[in-house]
Amino acid sequence: MTYPSLPLAGVLGDPVAHSRSPRLHHHWLQRYSLPGAYLPLPVVAADLATVLTVMPRMGFVGANVTIPHKEAVLPLAAAVTDRARRIGAANTLTFRPDGTFEADNTDGIGFLNALLQQAPGWESAAGPALVLGAGGAARAILAALIDAGVPKIWLANRTREKAEALSAFFGPPVAVLGWEDVDDRLSAAALIVNTTALGMEGKEKLSFDFNKLNESHVVNDIVYTPLETDLLAAARRKGATAVDGLGMLLHQAAPGFARWFGKEPEIDTALRTAVLAP
Ligand code: ATR
Repeated sequence: MTYPSLPLAGVLGDPVAHSRSPRLHHHWLQRYSLPGAYLPLPVVAADLATVLTVMPRMGFVGANVTIPHKEAVLPLAAAVTDRARRIGAANTLTFRPDGTFEADNTDGIGFLNALLQQAPGWESAAGPALVLGAGGAARAILAALIDAGVPKIWLANRTREKAEALSAFFGPPVAVLGWEDVDDRLSAAALIVNTTALGMEGKEKLSFDFNKLNESHVVNDIVYTPLETDLLAAARRKGATAVDGLGMLLHQAAPGFARWFGKEPEIDTALRTAVLAP
């Protein structure tokens, strides 16, 4: 039996219905008139290994993985990129001709490319970064900031032990800052990144003193529902450069699209509009 040559990709998650990834990949497929399809693929943890074995035989060239599978795919992969191993999770899988797959993580590079696009004046040497939160997203962002050459990263998390574990893993550039000491450090930070869920629709808000922000700050919130969080609104009011969370979502998707469908996609206003449409 021969298989159709229509390249397929999708996002594996549980739940996955909320994912914006199908919409953004379809936008690119249409824009570049490329054959292919990208599907939301609801997969429970118990089926993950089986699904990944069968997918390449069905015409899948790759997949994104989201909660709760980002860590679980690593031991199933025939190859894991250095950055995925360092982050301890993967979000982008590429099937190989023999049916095995490579696991990569593009969250860190997606974060950095979004930052460089929306804050072109930002330079890694400009000063310390203050990172709020110590979950999975923080881990990818710390790796990216260290690789970009940020000399000092203050890491604050409600649960201090988690920040300490990340600081021990990444070493000296990362120093733990008490959650209660964030206000005192806001002025001295060049870049402030919120990686917590605070500020998301339906959640509590960040309650730091953002009146301390000024034109020299770059403020990046990875929350994108709402797109304009209270943190970003406060940053703009004070003249700081605001970087929204949609940028990271779009930029982390680009390497997978390029690999699977053969075209480096553009990340521009048309894409943002398509992904944000209700
Ligand atoms: P992600 O993979 O998106 O980073 P996560 O691993 O669940 O998600 O991490 C969520 C982050 O948001 C954590 O840093 C968490 O702090 P704790 O480690 O103390 O749980 C942070 N967070 C969530 N709700 C919070 C709240 N109400 N106050 C402060 N931090 C909160």
